[in-house]
Amino acid sequence: MTAEPLEIYLEERDLQRGLREDARAGLSADEKWLPPKWFYDARGSELFEAITRLPEYYPTRAERAVLAERAPDIAALTGAKTLIELGSGSSEKTRLLLDAFTRQGGLGTFVPLDVSVSALLGSTAEIAADYPELRVRGIVGDFTRQLDLLPTGGRRLVVFLGGTIGNLLPAERAEFLAEMRAALEVNDWLLLGTDLVKDPSVIVPAYDDAAGVTAEFNRNVLHVINRELGADFDPDAFEHVALWDPAHEWIEMRLRATRAMRVRVLDLTVEFAPGEDLRTEVSAKFRPAGIAAELAEADFTASEFWTDPDGLFGVTLAQAR
Ligand code: AVJ
Repeated sequence: MTAEPLEIYLEERDLQRGLREDARAGLSADEKWLPPKWFYDARGSELFEAITRLPEYYPTRAERAVLAERAPDIAALTGAKTLIELGSGSSEKTRLLLDAFTRQGGLGTFVPLDVSVSALLGSTAEIAADYPELRVRGIVGDFTRQLDLLPTGGRRLVVFLGGTIGNLLPAERAEFLAEMRAALEVNDWLLLGTDLVKDPSVIVPAYDDAAGVTAEFNRNVLHVINRELGADFDPDAFEHVALWDPAHEWIEMRLRATRAMRVRVLDLTVEFAPGEDLRTEVSAKFRPAGIAAELAEADFTASEFWTDPDGLFGVTLAQAR
């Protein structure tokens, strides 16, 4: 079957407005910041795919190892009829789940949701071609705001992989999980990928690779703002910084001004002092007990928790209660 036309719940102009609001709020704050979702234009999505292949970036390989081993259990335990993937990107690891569901039988619909039209067009076409018995409904949307538009009915499994939940701050995470639960029926399932707390000597290089791909990915947000908002950032005047915060147990990516700068963005004039940081991403790392507690707080029961053989990355299967 060919994929159905994308269902668009997030128009170009909504995206533009969101970026404008975030840029205005973040760049006029005392401690400058931008939310990480603006990395992912077509080039940013390609750079992220390149990151997942770097020797230092362990999360993708570790999560893939868990899914490769546990996909048959996930299919059997959930018996899902509909698989919904949030922030699906290329859906490359999700194929391990689709393969297991195909062998088992019973899955009818795959619903990838992403803000990136370019990523969705590619992934839905390829998946529809490779899984001819599946209905493939790609949704262009923002998973932090539009969980209410998930398809209803049938036993559902929502998968949220890659550790992307770690990009939300703790309060945002609680709100996200509560909204997720509200969008689900009792006994629906959530499969959640989380990077785990470990020695910073392993984490930091994953966010500061020798080839400089992550640095380019980080600077890409400035290219996005230049193009979309007509700003005049000089991305090459910012240095990539990856910083482990032991109190919060998260890694931060920052862009550090290498000289004094005055940048025009919208109607703002944004001043950077030499050495001043712009925070572009928080990527929280988790402990098993913390994951279960956050899920319980949102009325999910964590029924299974699996890691890769090296214990780097965790995948939790939880059920709405
Ligand atoms: C896909 C959001 C989980 O936080 O590890 C990769 C994004 N940032 N390198 C992560 C990312 C820097 C990634 N997530």
